[in-house]
Amino acid sequence: MTDALTQLRSMQSADLPVHGGRTLAYVYDSGLPDIDRIGREAVASYAGSNGLDPTAFPSLLRMETEVVGMTADLLEAPETVVGTVTSGGTESVLLAVQTARDAHPGIERPRMVLPATAHAAFHKAAHYFGVEPVLVPVGPDFRADPAAMTAAMDERTVLVVASAPSYAHGVVDPVTEIAAAAAERGIRCHVDACIGGWVLPYAARLGRDVPAWTFAVEGVTSISVDLHKYAYAPKGTSVLLHRTPQLRRPQFFASAAWPGYTMLNSTMQSTKSGGPLAGAWAVMRSLGDDGYERLTRDVFEAVDRIRAGIGETAELAEVSDPDSTLIAVRTDASCDPFTVCDEMAARGWYVQPQMSYAGAPATVHLSVSAATLPHVPEFLEALGEAVAAAVAVGPVTVDPGVAEFIAGLDPLVLSDDDFDGLLVAAGLIGADAAGDPSTSSGHRLALPQRMAEVNAMLDLATPAMREALLVAFLDRLIRPSRH
Ligand SMILES: Cc1ncc(COP(=O)(O)O)c(C=O)c1O
Repeated sequence: MTDALTQLRSMQSADLPVHGGRTLAYVYDSGLPDIDRIGREAVASYAGSNGLDPTAFPSLLRMETEVVGMTADLLEAPETVVGTVTSGGTESVLLAVQTARDAHPGIERPRMVLPATAHAAFHKAAHYFGVEPVLVPVGPDFRADPAAMTAAMDERTVLVVASAPSYAHGVVDPVTEIAAAAAERGIRCHVDACIGGWVLPYAARLGRDVPAWTFAVEGVTSISVDLHKYAYAPKGTSVLLHRTPQLRRPQFFASAAWPGYTMLNSTMQSTKSGGPLAGAWAVMRSLGDDGYERLTRDVFEAVDRIRAGIGETAELAEVSDPDSTLIAVRTDASCDPFTVCDEMAARGWYVQPQMSYAGAPATVHLSVSAATLPHVPEFLEALGEAVAAAVAVGPVTVDPGVAEFIAGLDPLVLSDDDFDGLLVAAGLIGADAAGDPSTSSGHRLALPQRMAEVNAMLDLATPAMREALLVAFLDRLIRPSRH
């Protein structure tokens, strides 16, 4: 019985650490072992409970209404607000888009107006729900341009989006202007606060300069806030709030058109584990307002000190003036961000590479957690060493032959053989795996230790080509392991 658990722990040791403040993307670490334990135990005790039917599991209903209530309080919501706990930021965004679309059954080819920096979850929603994304270029500070957003709104627009903040650059869009323009035209305005929603209100209370973005802003009709990010809850929860029950109504799905139970869902999932909701509830209850305020003070102290350290590193510069806990750093011509990421990984720090996009340079992304604060001196020391090592090897280059090959490809008409050739050239699969449908266990995928060359190659490709290449890679990565 214990064998599988021992094996799990051993397998997990090869993953990125979720505690310790050294992983600056994907995970959000309070640095409080008791909070982690409480979250874990709550998840475990509700792992088998089913959120499908709130009347059958009334404790889950109570937790959901309390979690939504706490979120509404934090986000300055009016009495009319309603909300739903979803499985994560992407599900909240999907539901916001689906709800906006279905509120207008008369609009045949619905559109949504997005700043170019909006999260990719909106592109997924566009793809799933047939809502055309109208991408509006942002200003030089990476904040949405309200005049350009307003000009893009028309009679087919069902939703306008702003971020608080954007993931890639950590800046809050001018929500007041965007929401006002949307309201004037009777269009819904969603604020994607998935990543900032739980820290920005506390940052404002601590006296930091935070642009307005909550329900206090007129015209904001819905907001998404992830609990599994800066509420430091276990993975699997986000909250989607609508200003009124009428605005939420199209989100619900019911079907009695079959002989079984009447399916009645507020989210995309039907059967859903009670674990994540219980984990979030327990963590939120345990931390309370005071706990979150302390964690917010810590995380911003870490952010300020890291930003100061970056400012003192000649080869590095921030690309934006972030409003929240996310930092995007570029390098000068003496090195490149991808090699800096590799060199940080070699020193036990995970920082995330971001590709160049729409004229903006490639960067190193940092999602700073409260748990990083005590380790800031080590972080800055590692960063200094990583930059020096990256300068010593010089900026990463792509073989001109590979670059030319990529430039000549059309991602829409690529064959499996083309993909295999590219994956081999990129070092993503071993040559023996190319064209071999029996790459079943994935063990022949030769993911290199250092990713700079691969990232530099992807960076040269168009976004459509990046998507095609990575999908081909993932397709080969996720194959059954049959022994
Ligand atoms: C602004 C924003 N929106 C949406 C998401 C999607 O969240 P998730 O990864 O939980 O689906 C993220 C994730 O980082 C985000 O930063």
